[in-house]
Amino acid sequence: AVPITVPDLQARKRRGEKIVAITAYEAGIAARADEAGVDLVLVGDSLGMVVQGHASTLPVTMDAMVYHTACVARGLRRPLLVADLPFMSYRNEDLALANTARLLGEGGAAMVKLEGAEWVCTIIHALKRHEVPVCAHLGLTPQSVHRLGGYKVQGRDEPTAAKLRADARAVQDAGADLLVLECVPAGLATEISRDLAIPTIGIGAGAGCDGQVLVVHDLLGITPGKRPRFSKDFLAGTNSVLGAISAYAAAVRSGEFPAAEHSY
Ligand code: KIV
Ligand code: NA
Repeated sequence: AVPITVPDLQARKRRGEKIVAITAYEAGIAARADEAGVDLVLVGDSLGMVVQGHASTLPVTMDAMVYHTACVARGLRRPLLVADLPFMSYRNEDLALANTARLLGEGGAAMVKLEGAEWVCTIIHALKRHEVPVCAHLGLTPQSVHRLGGYKVQGRDEPTAAKLRADARAVQDAGADLLVLECVPAGLATEISRDLAIPTIGIGAGAGCDGQVLVVHDLLGITPGKRPRFSKDFLAGTNSVLGAISAYAAAVRSGEFPAAEHSY
């Protein structure tokens, strides 16, 4: 199996083919995602919530990210492996570079993801200067939960929508290769996806994004606590984890998922 690269994902956008992404935190799920033909596997700091049982992603450490990234890497051959830089791990250039070196070196990731724009653009630029592919993340950024006052849809009114459009341009200009849009109204996410040259990967951002990502626990119906509205239990209706991930991949590629009921 030839590994999927960053240029491959960018070519998909140009051809109008949807990108299928999923989170994983260990080798078993990673192997099923690989088998199901998923394009991108993200070791998300969502592991703080769905694996560790915390109320937010803030307690996730670099050691935990490196450990889980290495576990996932051993289960993967073909999908692009992306790892989150956790809360406070990229607060200056030196830390961001040192922590990224761990995620790529010890962890085996091919790309890192970080949340925000503005000052984050200087970090994106620094990573790109050192040849590291970067995924940006805008909209609902869970590391900002205390400022945002909860897990809420972002960009519903015009001032915040305008800021999101500008931030999306800014992270692209800083060198981001991909952009995750989380909990953004479908119309706005479609507009941003058309405006940018880089692919957008949506979660709770409607069907107009260039790809979709789901937290694997949501997709399998094993989320501790309440499953978010934008996700779907794909295990209901199949009888295996491989079947559920395959059904998700097919639904994204056909444009069936997300439906209006999963969007804002
Ligand atoms: O941590 C995570 O799983 C994420 C995705 C929801 C995009 O950042
Ligand atoms: Na994350």
